[in-house]
Amino acid sequence: MNADEPAGLIDPDPAWKVVDSYIAGHLLGEDAVLAATLAANATAGLPDIDVSPAQGQMLHLYARMTGARQILEIGTLGGYSTICLARALPADGKLVTLELEPQHAEVARANIAAAGVEAKVEVRIGAAVDTLTAMIAAGEGPFDLIFIDADKPSNTAYLHASLALSRPGTTIIVDNVVREGGVLDAESDDPRIIGTRALFAAVAAEPRLTATAVQTVGAKKWDGFLLAVVQ
Ligand code: SAH
Ligand code: DHB
Ligand code: MG
Repeated sequence: MNADEPAGLIDPDPAWKVVDSYIAGHLLGEDAVLAATLAANATAGLPDIDVSPAQGQMLHLYARMTGARQILEIGTLGGYSTICLARALPADGKLVTLELEPQHAEVARANIAAAGVEAKVEVRIGAAVDTLTAMIAAGEGPFDLIFIDADKPSNTAYLHASLALSRPGTTIIVDNVVREGGVLDAESDDPRIIGTRALFAAVAAEPRLTATAVQTVGAKKWDGFLLAVVQ
């Protein structure tokens, strides 16, 4: 299977990957820094759940399109999405990224330094709900763009904390809101599905948010991003 095969001859799942390679081959170019980040993550045994290259570039472009100067990320892993977003910041811009696992944070800090964006990025270790509570109490923010991509059961808590750290016009992006259609399962006992459905309900109930969700297929299978802007 390769990127030149006619799409009609490829089954949906494999085709999504091939089309992602086609997109990356044409639009993203070689990126030694991001390749090294993924290699370092694999060596350290981190799970392979970073955003895809095309999605990372989408996050980068959102940050550019919104002119973001202050970015908050919830869920760092090895810093792949962090680097994509930090590269969009102006020289005096800042990104704060929150991570529960000290080992993930350590790998991320090394990747962020290797990417040359460490002056703009602060990795904070701890349960994000606690870190966010402290940030709100300290009067931090407002952030221009917030990317939520940590434990899915906490997504409603992350949404509400994000609102407290926002200004009118802040962009909020949430990863993994479709989960191969699992979001439709109202009877699910999977806390990640329950958390995702609670997030949709919370966004729908929040008059300050104008929102949509966009389904995606690709190297990371069938999933989606929720996008919202604060009134
Ligand atoms: N944004 C990353 C992927 C994040 S994966 C990227 O695209 O490159 C989700 C991360 O959230 C994992 O590293 C996991 O350890 C972290 N996480 C899980 N529960 C958390 C919590 N309660 N607080 C903060 N981070 C958490
Ligand atoms: C999972 C988490 C993610 O952020 C992701 O992009 C994919 C999978 C997970 O917890 O399974
Ligand atoms: Mg994710």
